[in-house]
Amino acid sequence: MYDKSKIIPGLIIFVGLVTLPFLYNLVTADFKPEASLDTPVINKMSKKQCVRSKDIMKTEHMKVLHEWRDSVVRHGEREYGMIDEVKYEKSLQKTCMKCHSNKKDFCDRCHTYVDVKPYCWNCHIAPEGK
Ligand code: HEC
Ligand code: HEC
Ligand code: HEC
Repeated sequence: MYDKSKIIPGLIIFVGLVTLPFLYNLVTADFKPEASLDTPVINKMSKKQCVRSKDIMKTEHMKVLHEWRDSVVRHGEREYGMIDEVKYEKSLQKTCMKCHSNKKDFCDRCHTYVDVKPYCWNCHIAPEGK
């Protein structure tokens, strides 16, 4: 009734196809997104630095953004201060995205990896390209 010579290879191929994504995940489990700092503004900085230390920014950048928003919207306080001899305001577009103008290779790369989708860009304008 059944042709074993077809069923067995068929099964092997089926099992292979089903486990392939799993095996692929095992191999790539160590993959961490590399947030690119290659932008015109950052490349020109004499001392590469963010608004806080890199370790703090890595985990707390959303808090910084919320503090800035409250400061601007509630208290009308826009001034941030100097970084690498350039004056900045507390602004998502004018400050964060001026240095990190490569949103796709920076913000998006991490966010896609951890599956967060900040809704900020519904209103704030994202930079285009580099
Ligand atoms: C003056 C340029 C500049 C501004 C303004 C700036 N950044 Fe940064 N940012 C950098 C640099 C340079 C680094 C890397 C710092 C280092 O390696 O010590 C960095 C690092 C980071 C990191 C950590 C990346 C990683 O690989 O862990 C995050 C997240 C970040 N910035 C988000 C922001 C956000 C959000 C804002 C606005 C609130 C902002 N940055 C404003 C230049 C800037
Ligand atoms: C090094 C990786 C990394 C980089 C680079 C990064 N983020 Fe994030 N971001 C995260 C992680 C992880 C979370 C989620 C944290 C959590 O849920 O506690 C997050 C969350 C956020 C949130 C809060 C989202 C929410 O729905 O609550 C905002 C806003 C945000 N990021 C803005 C930015 C902006 C703007 C940039 C680029 C200038 C940026 N991030 C770059 C890793 C990163
Ligand atoms: C419903 C529209 C809307 C959304 C969504 C939104 N914002 Fe805003 N945001 C505004 C408006 C309007 C202002 C006031 C602009 C001004 O006075 O310059 C503002 C101001 C700010 C400011 C200070 C001023 C500036 O130039 O950036 C920050 C920082 C900020 N928002 C961060 C965020 C972040 C982070 C998110 C996502 C987690 C977000 N906003 C989502 C509308 C929005």
